[in-house]
Amino acid sequence: MQSHIRKQTFSPENEKTLRRFSSWEVSELILKVNQSTFRGRLAADPSLPDGLVEEDGRQRWYTLEEINEIRRRMKINRRSLLPKRPANKRAFRAAIANFKGGAGKSTVALHFAHAAALDGYRVLVVDFDPQATLSHSMGLSDVAEDFTVWGIMARDLIRETDRMNAAPVAAETGARVPTRQLPASIRDMGLGGLRNTDFIRPTAWPSIDIVPSCANAAFVEFASAQYRHLNPDWSFFAAVSRFLDGIAADAYDLVIFDCPPAIGYQSMNAVFAADMLYVPSGPGYWEYDSTTSFIGQLSEALGDLSAGFPAGNLPLPKVFQDIRFLMTRYEPGNDLHRAMFEAFRKVFEGHVAEHPIEMTRAVEQSGRFLSSVYEIDYRDMTRETWRRARATFDQAYEEFRDSILATWDQLEDAA
Ligand SMILES: Nc1ncnc2c1ncn2[C@@H]1O[C@H](COP(=O)(O)OP(=O)(O)OP(=O)(O)O)[C@@H](O)[C@H]1O
Ligand SMILES: [Mg+2]
Repeated sequence: MQSHIRKQTFSPENEKTLRRFSSWEVSELILKVNQSTFRGRLAADPSLPDGLVEEDGRQRWYTLEEINEIRRRMKINRRSLLPKRPANKRAFRAAIANFKGGAGKSTVALHFAHAAALDGYRVLVVDFDPQATLSHSMGLSDVAEDFTVWGIMARDLIRETDRMNAAPVAAETGARVPTRQLPASIRDMGLGGLRNTDFIRPTAWPSIDIVPSCANAAFVEFASAQYRHLNPDWSFFAAVSRFLDGIAADAYDLVIFDCPPAIGYQSMNAVFAADMLYVPSGPGYWEYDSTTSFIGQLSEALGDLSAGFPAGNLPLPKVFQDIRFLMTRYEPGNDLHRAMFEAFRKVFEGHVAEHPIEMTRAVEQSGRFLSSVYEIDYRDMTRETWRRARATFDQAYEEFRDSILATWDQLEDAA
C-alpha cells in the first residue's frame, strides 16, 4: 500500500528523469563560458554533441551526458573545463548534519549533490535518514532495508566479528580472547555476502549514485544497540567508513551524507566517516541554540568513542579537516536574521559560510515536487524567481566546493 501511494504521488511518469539544459544554461551557468564563444566552438567542431532543438525556440538543449562530453573535449583559452581534483586522493566525504529537525539538511544535500554534478564531479550520496527525504527526492521510493545503511552495518558486524575470531589473540597480553558468537538470525539474513555495489543505486542523474534509505531502516537504532551487546569490541561507528574505504578511490569525487535529525548509530557513522562537517541552521534563536548544543553533544559523543575503543587501526580521536556552519532560510531584509547571522559569526569565528542560503519560493515549491532548483525548468516559473534561487544555492555550493578544495590535498594518498 505504501509503495502504491508513493507511485501515485510520483505521477505523471512515476519515474524521475533529468531534463535537458539549454545552451544559455550550459554556457553561462554550467561551464561559465561566454555564450557566443560556446556556440562558435560547437559550430566549429561538428563532432561535438548537437543537443536537441525544442519546438518553442531556437536554443539547443543538452543532456548532462552531452555536457560532460563537451566538458572533456572543449578547452577555452587552453583552460580545461574539467573540475579540480587533487591527484591520487580518494573522494572527499562531507556530512550535512545537525540534530535540529527541519534545518534544511536534505535540501542542502540535494542541491549540493546536483550543483556538484553540474560542476562535473561524480557524486555518491548516502542517505542516513530513515525519513528518506533525499532518497525520495532522487526518485528512489522502493528500497528494501537490507540495502541501506542498516544493511551496511549488519554486514560490517558479521565481517568484523569473523575477522576478530580469526585472530583471537589480544595483541598486548597474548591472551586468547573468547570467540564472539552471532546468533543464526543475524547470519541467516544473508547480508554477510553482499558486495559493495549491492548497496549503490543509480539515480536520474548520470553522475550521481546513492546509498538510499527507507522508512523500515528506522530500526537500525534499536538493532544496533543489540548488536553492540553481541560483540562489544565491534566499532559500530566505523561501519560506513569501512564500506567507503572498500570503494575504488577514483570511482567518485565527492561523497555527501544526509543525516537524520538525531545523534544515534546512523549519524555517528556519518560523522565518523566524514572529512568535513557542514552544519545547516535556520536563522531563528532556537535554531542557534540547538545548533550550539548539537556541537557540544557531538563532541561529547566523539570523546566517548575515543575513550571506549583502542585507537589501534581506527583514526581516533576523530579529527575533521573542517567544520562549517551554513545559515539557511535566510531573509536578507529581516533584521532578526541579520542579527542571528552576526551572532553565528561571533560564536563560530571563521567557521560560518559567507553566503547563507536564502529563503526562496522556488524551493518551497520544489519541496512539494521533490526537485532541486537545478531540476526545475526555468520556463516553469518567473525567470527572476528561478535565477535568484539558483544564485543563492550556487554561491553556497561554490563556497562548499572551495572549502573542500582547500583541504582535499591533506587527505592521505590513496593506496
Ligand atoms: N532555502 C529554503 N527556502 C525555502 N524553503 C526551504 C529552504 N530550505 C529548506 N526549506 C524547506 O524547509 C523544510 C525542511 O527542509 P529539509 O527537509 O531540507 O530539512 P531537514 O533538516 O532535512 O529536515 P529533517 O530534520 O526532518 O531531516 C522543507 O519543507 C524545505 O522545502
Ligand atoms: Mg532531512
